[in-house]
Amino acid sequence: MNTKTQVGIIGAGPAGLLLSHLLHLEGIDSVVLETRSRKYVEERVRAGVLEQGTVDLLCETGLGDRLRREGLVHRGIELRFDGRGHRIALSDLTGGRAIWIYGQKQVVKDLNKARLAAGATIHFEVNDVRLSGIDATSPVINYRKDDQEHILTCDFIAGCDGFHGVSRDSIPSGILRTYQHDYPFGWLGILAAVAPSTEELIYASHDRGFALHSLRSPEISRLYIQVDPDEDINEWPDDRIWQELSIRLATRDGWTLADGPILEKGITSLRSFVVEPMQYGRLFLAGDAAHIVPATGAKGLNLAVHDVRILAESLTAWFRTGATELLEQYSTRCLRRVWRVQDFSSFMSLMLHRFPDGDGFRSRLQRAQLEYVCSSEAAARSLAENYVGLPHV
Ligand code: APR
Ligand code: PHB
Repeated sequence: MNTKTQVGIIGAGPAGLLLSHLLHLEGIDSVVLETRSRKYVEERVRAGVLEQGTVDLLCETGLGDRLRREGLVHRGIELRFDGRGHRIALSDLTGGRAIWIYGQKQVVKDLNKARLAAGATIHFEVNDVRLSGIDATSPVINYRKDDQEHILTCDFIAGCDGFHGVSRDSIPSGILRTYQHDYPFGWLGILAAVAPSTEELIYASHDRGFALHSLRSPEISRLYIQVDPDEDINEWPDDRIWQELSIRLATRDGWTLADGPILEKGITSLRSFVVEPMQYGRLFLAGDAAHIVPATGAKGLNLAVHDVRILAESLTAWFRTGATELLEQYSTRCLRRVWRVQDFSSFMSLMLHRFPDGDGFRSRLQRAQLEYVCSSEAAARSLAENYVGLPHV
């Protein structure tokens, strides 16, 4: 089977689906190829914090109905250490900007629904995806679906296939420079059927390690504890997880953590990863295919959204007028934000986690930093403007 499209998009995560949506609004045709099933991509438990700029873009492009109804606006977060909470007043410090709690899987559901209602072509459960001719004018994607070989000829290919995808590796060796940092800790995350014990997110620094109390809805809590990156999940029965969470989140004023049935649990490692440039020939990388940030800044999804916004704008200029300037600037414009966000996510991670540290020098620095952001308005404002997300440029 031979078909053609203007933009071949690999991956139906938030990056690929939103790109397809934004291109559609500009009258540009795309085909999305995804190895997993629709159900799988819609049920995968991922992050849940949307920056103001992400929400604005989703609302401006017709994706805001359910988000406005079900999303929870948060105007502050709490940093908790030494048994005390300190509120960072995100909105007061940023001229009214806020974050929204709305699970990534809800964003993916809304995107799939909008794309399919508009007649989009999204092929789920494809396999053996291969890219060729990316340095020529008509790059090609070969893939298999239902045991049939397909050839999709494109004007451009967008590699939105996440960290483990095939797009990045299709770029000839010697072109990309890779930057990687592995943090010496992982996160054990749970989704629990219990009302959150807090209205705002709590980031807790404790001698036993970091803990985070987040949420998905008034009935569902999302919590994390720092563990070793190679920790075995089988060592963590539900009781042990709740016990550890309640120790790390405890306060001196008797605040209590409500527990409940754990619906899902898993361990992820924290890493920073960037490739430069995010483009080769007619292949453009976006989202996790090009960069990973440690989860402490809650930025992965938001960065992916920024990438595809820039990519859609650049491709639109090319399809309208043949102008190549924006496409040439794609990587530089994205990477500027990627590195800002790497720095912020690294700052949050280094400030809040317990390190396997010898003489306690680092933990003294961490305490000094926490006390500074909780007492200086300038320092708090810096954290807040990064947390709600710097304006898209
Ligand atoms: N062919 C087609 N699809 C693929 C392939 C392949 N060879 N390899 C992977 N995929 C799909 C994955 O199954 C996944 O659905 O690409 C999609 C990539 O989606 P995400 O991993 O969600 O990445 P992205 O869209 O960049 O979103 C970034 O998602 O992973 C989180 O923390 C991350 O929140 C961030 C956001
Ligand atoms: C989440 O709700 O999943 C979440 C919140 C904040 C983070 C990371 C993850 O920093």
